[in-house]
Amino acid sequence: MITITKETSVNINVDGCSLIRNAKKIGKGRFATVYSSGLFVCAFVKDCQMKEAISLWGDQENPHVPKIKKLGEGKNDTMVYQMPVYHKLTASNKTAWSQYKELQNIWSQVCQQSTRRTQGMIDSQHFCDLVDDSKVLTDDLKEAFRNIVDCGLNYGDTICVEIAPRNLMVDDKGNLILLDILFDSKLLPWMK
Ligand SMILES: Nc1ncnc2c1ncn2[C@@H]1O[C@H](COP(=O)(O)OP(=O)(O)OP(=O)(O)O)[C@@H](O)[C@H]1O
Ligand SMILES: [Mg+2]
Repeated sequence: MITITKETSVNINVDGCSLIRNAKKIGKGRFATVYSSGLFVCAFVKDCQMKEAISLWGDQENPHVPKIKKLGEGKNDTMVYQMPVYHKLTASNKTAWSQYKELQNIWSQVCQQSTRRTQGMIDSQHFCDLVDDSKVLTDDLKEAFRNIVDCGLNYGDTICVEIAPRNLMVDDKGNLILLDILFDSKLLPWMK
């Protein structure tokens, strides 16, 4: 059992042994609450299985696939994952920024053609095809994108892609990291 013993500056323990001391909360999304020790990150995730998918099938050799390791169960039906500390994507990361802009262009094309019927697997596959055709994106990034979509689709055909700056980061080398580009539309009431 993974527990948190303090709220603002937290200690994270795995089966009673200390994993992180004095970690700080650095993020909160729809499904994850994220803590960092400065050396690595722990995400406590409820309901969403996309981090699990990448921890199981993500291509660990690909520089754009986030390195996610499942640690175990936390309290209140959460699952806990460990990751490297990634950094906010900004325009100063020139290559990563231009790759993000290209992904955003492709996303708006997919959204324009999307209907309720195509949402999920069909849109995700269409997205992968447009990514493959891109003249801007590198082969590594194309492979990372398809690998992540394939990871997600193992959990069903309601998996969608979302390109948003909060979900794309850069690593210490400035590589674009496709951190959290998938969501399951069946978990979002307004998309049902
Ligand atoms: N490895 C990491 N390094 C640095 N910051 C991170 C890391 N993982 C997550 N974060 C921060 O925590 C936030 C929430 O994490 P994440 O996107 O995984 O949660 P989520 O609930 O799945 O998000 P969403 O609301 O987009 O569905 C991110 O937007 C980011 O700011
Ligand atoms: Mg997110």
